Amino acid sequence: MDATLERTIRERIEIEKARTGPSQDSIPVPLIPTSRYTDPEFFALEMERVFHRTWLFVGHESEWPQHGAYRLFSRSGAPIVIVRGKDDVLRAFYNACRHRGAPVTRDECGVAKRLTCQYHSWSYDTEGQLKAVPDARSFAELDTDALALVPVRCEVWEGWVFVNEATNAAPLTEFLGPICDQMKEINGPALRRVGTQTHRISANWKLMVDAFLEVYHVRTVHPDNAALLYDDRSVTVSMLPNGHSRLTTEKYEALRDFAMVSDEHDNPSVPLIWRQTSTSFGIFPNLVVPMDTGAFTFLCMWPVDTSHMELELQWFAPAWEGDEVPQEHLDRLALFDTVMAQDTANMAPIQASIESPGAQPFQIGWHERLIHNFQRAVDLAIGVDRLPAGSAVSDALDRFVETE
Ligand code: FES
Ligand SMILES: [Fe+2]
Repeated sequence: MDATLERTIRERIEIEKARTGPSQDSIPVPLIPTSRYTDPEFFALEMERVFHRTWLFVGHESEWPQHGAYRLFSRSGAPIVIVRGKDDVLRAFYNACRHRGAPVTRDECGVAKRLTCQYHSWSYDTEGQLKAVPDARSFAELDTDALALVPVRCEVWEGWVFVNEATNAAPLTEFLGPICDQMKEINGPALRRVGTQTHRISANWKLMVDAFLEVYHVRTVHPDNAALLYDDRSVTVSMLPNGHSRLTTEKYEALRDFAMVSDEHDNPSVPLIWRQTSTSFGIFPNLVVPMDTGAFTFLCMWPVDTSHMELELQWFAPAWEGDEVPQEHLDRLALFDTVMAQDTANMAPIQASIESPGAQPFQIGWHERLIHNFQRAVDLAIGVDRLPAGSAVSDALDRFVETE
């Protein structure tokens, strides 16, 4: 990690721990209307303007190990197939045949030199070009060049694969901004998937994102695990451009230098500050990544409808030999499951409360301001003029967004 940034974070941790009143630069955070979490119109706008137009995390490049390896991705609501081409490049296409719209593959994943539509067997190469049309004699002047699969933007950064349906979107690295430099030390290309866990939750997707953008709840919701390790008084946050963020909480001194991972499965690229703290990056719109050595997770909050979501935990770890997942990674997944169960159990009652006539806007604190930054980015992605009346968050925190 950049030495200046590390010094700044450590200084800010000390300031946070020492203060006995509100921090010097803090302002009251304007209220957050709860209709954002309950209004089907707001949800429809999010799907259209956020999830169909933003870079979304899909997985790790090692999951497409060879030419012809493909995987489906439908989390944004659109059916997308991602496939590795002859030139080793990953490309994404809508999984829709140019004949009459049937999927060109129905398997979740596989390896194929051609993607062949099951309806009438039109087939496409791994670059999306239409290569074969059975009974072509029945199509007058068929222009196969004009009937390629429709592409979706797909970019890989440090091994991490993202897609974006917006053809005019800024490149992924520009969108990620300072996160690119700051997250690099996890050394994505040297990692491998451990496994994926999915939890269905009866709450709006943003309630769960909010929960991972603050540690205010750690002492109350996680008294028997995270609260024993992390000193929430030390929490130090940065609101970054495009709704991204960084959140750092120091471990208690007695445990700060305790090795949590064996030498064999340690990730040597992980810097000391990540080992002595919990540091997580919030990547707009729906991704939170708590950096750690050994196995660590990408937490994806996928919307289902206004009041339901799926929490998908994709786990990665430094590449190991053989097929079997090392036991210590499985142990960490199990431990994390306990923490997640506490977080997820919290969500449905909140959703019920904000759907009731007694719902009131949220008054968050300055130490929770990453939530405001995220919510503001949702508004900006939708377009403030399009928001349903009374649902917008304030722009008052915009001037506190940091560029690094
Ligand atoms: S819809 Fe694909 S071949 Fe007919
Ligand atoms: Fe939590």
